[in-house]
Formats: sequence, C-alpha cells, structure tokens
Amino acid sequence: MNVKAKIAVVTGASSGIGLATAKLLTQKGAKVAIVAQSQGALDTIAKDLPGSFAIAADLRNESEARKMLQRAYEHYGRIDILVNNAGRNYASSIEEIETTKIREIFELNVLTPVALMQEVVPILRKQGGGAIINISSGTVFMPTYPGMSTYIASKRAIATFSLVAREELKKDNIIVSTVYPYITATNFYKDTLNAGANTQMPTGDGKIPAPDQPEVVAETILRGIENGEAELFPHEWMKEWLTKRTV
Ligand SMILES: NC(=O)c1ccc[n+]([C@@H]2O[C@H](COP(=O)([O-])OP(=O)(O)OC[C@H]3O[C@@H](n4cnc5c(N)ncnc54)[C@H](OP(=O)(O)O)[C@@H]3O)[C@@H](O)[C@H]2O)c1
Repeated sequence: MNVKAKIAVVTGASSGIGLATAKLLTQKGAKVAIVAQSQGALDTIAKDLPGSFAIAADLRNESEARKMLQRAYEHYGRIDILVNNAGRNYASSIEEIETTKIREIFELNVLTPVALMQEVVPILRKQGGGAIINISSGTVFMPTYPGMSTYIASKRAIATFSLVAREELKKDNIIVSTVYPYITATNFYKDTLNAGANTQMPTGDGKIPAPDQPEVVAETILRGIENGEAELFPHEWMKEWLTKRTV
C-alpha cells in the first residue's frame, strides 16, 4: 500500500519507535492519529505533524483502547493502517514475579493489540482492505533470556495472534504483518517495570551489533505497510532467526 493520503493509527507514538513511525508516515503523506497516555506530550508532538490527531488513552484498558480507535475513525472518516506499537518491558526472575504486573504487561502488549485489530477490521473490510502492523520483538527468538519471561511471553503471544490474523484476514485484503525490532535506543529500557533485575540497554560492546535508532525500525514498519511482507526485521542477518524458531 502506498501510504500517501492514507489514514494511520499509531499507538505508543509519544516516543521511540512509534514517534519515529508517526513522523515517517507523515513525511510520506499520510495523516496519523497518535496515541499514548499523555495528552500534553501528544499535543506538543502533533504541532510538528501536519494532519495528525492526538488521542490520549491508557492502552492497558481495553474499553479506552476501543474508544480511542472509534474516535480516530470519527475524526478522519476512515482508517487504512493500524500500527500496534505501544508496549512495555517487565524485568523479573520467575521467583520474584508479581502476577499483577504480568497481567498489566499482557493487557498492554497483547490484549489491547488484539482488541484494536477486532475494532479496526470491520472498518478496513468495509473500505476494501488495509494494513495492520503488530510490533513483536527479536527477543521472541531468545525465549530463555533470564529475567525477561513476561515480556518475551507477551511478544511471542502477539506474534502468534498476528500471524494467525494474517491468514484469517487475507481474503478481505487486510494485510497483517509482524515486525521484530532489534535492540533499539528508546525509552524502553528506562521505562521497564522493574522488580530488581538489571535493565540497562545492551550497548553492543563488540559481541553483538550496536542498538538501532528508532528511525531504522520505522523504515521497517513502512516497508511492511508498503510491501505487505508477513514478518519483517530491521536487518537482513536477523532473518536467519526464523530458521531457528521454536514456535
Ligand atoms: N526498544 C527496544 O529495544 C525494543 C526491541 C524490540 C521491540 N520493542 C517494542 O517496540 C515497541 C515500542 O517501544 P519503544 O522501544 O519505542 O519504547 P518507548 O520509547 O518506551 O515507547 C513506548 C510507547 O508506548 C507508550 N505506552 C506505554 N504504556 C502505555 C499505556 N499504558 N497506554 C498507552 N501508551 C503507552 C509510551 O507512551 P506513554 O508512556 O507516554 O504513554 C510510548 O509512546 C514496544 O512494543 C516494544 O516492546 C522495543
């Protein structure tokens, strides 16, 4: 899909990958509903994004999330693209894990993206098609990473919903793609729900490649919208991970 003159909803657009995506889509001629928790932060960002519409919502709350999508639809009169990007990390050993925090992470990283797919699909179907991008994580290919069980489980779950949705919706010309970012220099590590585990961003000290800038992931998301690939990585070398997939 060419994004020019299209309407996109991007969640988690107040920083990092979501913000870079909202900027890139706007540069390419789309209009973007930008979503995060702080109306003030979004209003400031919206000033530099012509045609954008700032909607504050706590996406841990499913009904708030569904209302947000309908507000975007009422505002623009159509939606062509949904980017399910908002997400958060929780670092804890299994021993110390708090189940209330597992629930919180799953609400944001899994349940709401699924609810937003449900909310947008009838709109896209009525319009003859559209694109949905779900942001998973490269960590799903490292499922034994200590301290990351909740996060990785949530990102494996959303990848599964995304891959199944792609099969179910292709008959309606609704193309669902899954993006697996590499380590990306954003607020993600700082904003980790932390139960005492080390949450410093890995720096790529020669043993692993250096973190990406969020603009690199935004380009990958744009490629997904334009080309409709099933699974996308910011780097060619990451594709090899698919051959080692355990789900
Ligand atoms: N950075 C990485 O290394 C990395 C790697 C793989 C995958 N990812 C994934 O990439 C996505 C974007 O993360 P990022 O790296 O760009 O991190 P980020 O800079 O922390 O951005 C997260 C975004 O989500 C929003 N958000 C958080 N909680 C929310 C809530 N309850 N309701 C609504 N919005 C909420 C944040 O805005 P507010 O807090 O203002 O609401 C922010 O806009 C996430 O799904 C993450 O899991 C990141």
